[in-house]
Amino acid sequence: MGYFGASEDPKFDTDLFPPTGLTEEEVMAGLDEFEARDSEKIVGHSIVYGVQLMSHMDAARIAKLANMKFVRNNMLYKELQPGTLRMSVEVKRMIKEMLGHPDGVRVRLTSGGSESLYCAINAAYQWFRQEKPRSREPEIVVPYSIHGSVSKWCHYTGIKLKRVPLGGDYRADVAAMERAITKNTFFIAGSAPCWPYGLYDDIEGLAAVAECHGIWMHVDACLGGFLAPFIEKAGHSLPAWDFRTPGVRSISADLHKYGYACKPLSSLTFRSEEWDQYHEFTASDWPDGPYSTEAICGSTSAGPVASAWAVMKFLGEEGYIKLARRCLDVKQRYVEGINSIDGVRCWETDLTPLVFQVPEGMDIFAVIGGMFERRVYCLPGFQPPLIKIVVDPVTDEVVDRFVGALGEVVPLVRKGDVTIESVRPYL
Ligand SMILES: Cc1ncc(COP(=O)(O)O)c(C=O)c1O
Repeated sequence: MGYFGASEDPKFDTDLFPPTGLTEEEVMAGLDEFEARDSEKIVGHSIVYGVQLMSHMDAARIAKLANMKFVRNNMLYKELQPGTLRMSVEVKRMIKEMLGHPDGVRVRLTSGGSESLYCAINAAYQWFRQEKPRSREPEIVVPYSIHGSVSKWCHYTGIKLKRVPLGGDYRADVAAMERAITKNTFFIAGSAPCWPYGLYDDIEGLAAVAECHGIWMHVDACLGGFLAPFIEKAGHSLPAWDFRTPGVRSISADLHKYGYACKPLSSLTFRSEEWDQYHEFTASDWPDGPYSTEAICGSTSAGPVASAWAVMKFLGEEGYIKLARRCLDVKQRYVEGINSIDGVRCWETDLTPLVFQVPEGMDIFAVIGGMFERRVYCLPGFQPPLIKIVVDPVTDEVVDRFVGALGEVVPLVRKGDVTIESVRPYL
């Protein structure tokens, strides 16, 4: 159950599964209806909602075509499909080049940021089990702001999770994280940047702590991984986030975010084969012989991999730099527009997302609902109450519509003309 109330179980007045098959036209008409409902709602951001209204629609179109072309190929059996195999190897090679990783790194493709994080924690756990087989209660230490999927994985596996309160600047409190480390701690991580606030943790500080205690250090660059190198190439500096920092053993970076590939696709890179080997697992204790997979999932479609290959080739370095610059322009335009609204204040985030506070005491859901009513979309943050937008390379039209709607809604909420009750149907 998420924070928006829409039900996944609407009432049906007829059975849905047809006794005999429909025609292709009927099937496509049904899908067109779903699509129309979605796009009616979307005036938003490519990362959260798909790839609509990006300022580079050609890249989005090519990604979709490539996805369709390979959607039926199974990555599990890529060794039987020399073309798919070659394509995936080329994607991994391009990831290394794009992210500027040093020689010797090992790239794994996964189904998304969550799976990349699961695999990173798992590799660290396997390493720790070998190092300290007698440890009874293995645990990980992370900043409070690290992505929720880390909690999910620890829930699934029984690994003890210590989320450490942040510093006053909403970044990882390195000293507090060090104090939380015990002899059972095998993994610490920082985000670059984190999803709740768009801020980079002190990766150098955390990696130094990890080296000092001899534990695994992971950087969650799921969000910023494919944006940061091009922001830097465009001449802007960013906090340290990659293997240039000693002690970092693994990095997660999502292709389906600022790589502009179709979902689901992410990457997990290990600094060297030494750490990658702990990811590797082959099951042989069953009737069908050795079974091993790229990440946690078994069969996965080659479509997203093809989409990554296509977009990387189509945009090239120049194209990614252009989109990175566009993201910065979009952010600046948002900040100026949003800050000009009485009582609303953007935080200074490092990259993306952009978050802002509404006037003290104002219900963020009344504002978000008022925005939804105008078909303009944004997301909530809770501690403290914030509204969040992803800094995508969208068109000016998207930014202007967002700022225009916010400028309309905030005074209406202040006057009581828009309330949480009045917008409930939109949430
Ligand atoms: C920093 C960060 N890490 C991990 C994730 C999880 O990624 P996914 O939704 O692809 O599983 C996200 C998603 O937004 C994220 O922002």
